[in-house]
Amino acid sequence: MADERPFVMITGASSGLGLELAKLFAQDGYDIAISGSSERIFEAETTIKSYGVQAYPLQADASTYEGVEAFWQFVKNKNKKLDAAVLNVGVSKGGSFLENDLEKELKLIDINIRGTVHMAKRVVQDMVPNKEGNILLVSSVSATLPTPYETVYGPSKAFGFMFAEALREELKETGVNVTAMLPGATNTDFHHNAGMDSTYFGDERNKNDKELVARQGYEAFKNKVDHVVCGDEATKKEAEDNRTTPEEVKAAAHAKKAKPQ
Ligand SMILES: NC(=O)c1ccc[n+]([C@@H]2O[C@H](COP(=O)([O-])OP(=O)(O)OC[C@H]3O[C@@H](n4cnc5c(N)ncnc54)[C@H](OP(=O)(O)O)[C@@H]3O)[C@@H](O)[C@H]2O)c1
Repeated sequence: MADERPFVMITGASSGLGLELAKLFAQDGYDIAISGSSERIFEAETTIKSYGVQAYPLQADASTYEGVEAFWQFVKNKNKKLDAAVLNVGVSKGGSFLENDLEKELKLIDINIRGTVHMAKRVVQDMVPNKEGNILLVSSVSATLPTPYETVYGPSKAFGFMFAEALREELKETGVNVTAMLPGATNTDFHHNAGMDSTYFGDERNKNDKELVARQGYEAFKNKVDHVVCGDEATKKEAEDNRTTPEEVKAAAHAKKAKPQ
């Protein structure tokens, strides 16, 4: 019976980590509501349905209040108990802060911060009365360092990381879990979409495998740990070293990798 399957919503699941996570939920028998801004969300629907579960796609813009609210109402209209939520949608913008278009940077903040808070509010207020629920918030290793030439992105992910940890603590007696996922650089469309093809991050060889990253995030979500760094051993070591490396040193290292050539 379809109604007996657990139900998860995933923002930004047309492609990349959102879609990889959706496949893992599908393998575990979840029905899945997914959002994206493009028509690719309907290709993701087909992919997810091939696992024998239901997929509910909505094309909605996560950078607007209306778009976030539309996806939430779409989820609620399924009349299913929401067991899990993945707050995944996020974008970066490469290039120098001096020259970048302000509108693009404000849109990044709208998606990565404003939209995340908006959706988290709806999800938390829905789950807590049920006394159960599991939330995975996709942050980044970029939360642990200054990110010159993605100047606004790293701070937006630092917001997500600390927001998730704070929410986890507030909700710990409610039955609702929050886990933060911190991927290192990963081979999705992400850096291309951020206009970073000419940088170190434009080279696929310098990035983690998206299936590995999604699997590590999904395991951490299932084990309800507070946060997980996702990627290979070098990624995990970098994140560990970032705890003690001076900010100026980390900034200089990231600038070398992210500066357009
Ligand atoms: N890839 C990395 O190196 C990396 C590293 C650390 C953390 N992360 C984080 O992982 C998350 C997923 O990134 P990804 O690597 O999977 O990137 P991606 O391949 O670019 O995927 C982004 C997803 O978000 C959707 N999206 C983008 N703008 C949207 C909007 N305005 N409204 C609704 N949906 C929108 C896209 O769908 P449409 O195309 O249909 O809009 C797509 O499904 C992000 O939060 C990112 O910060 C990524």
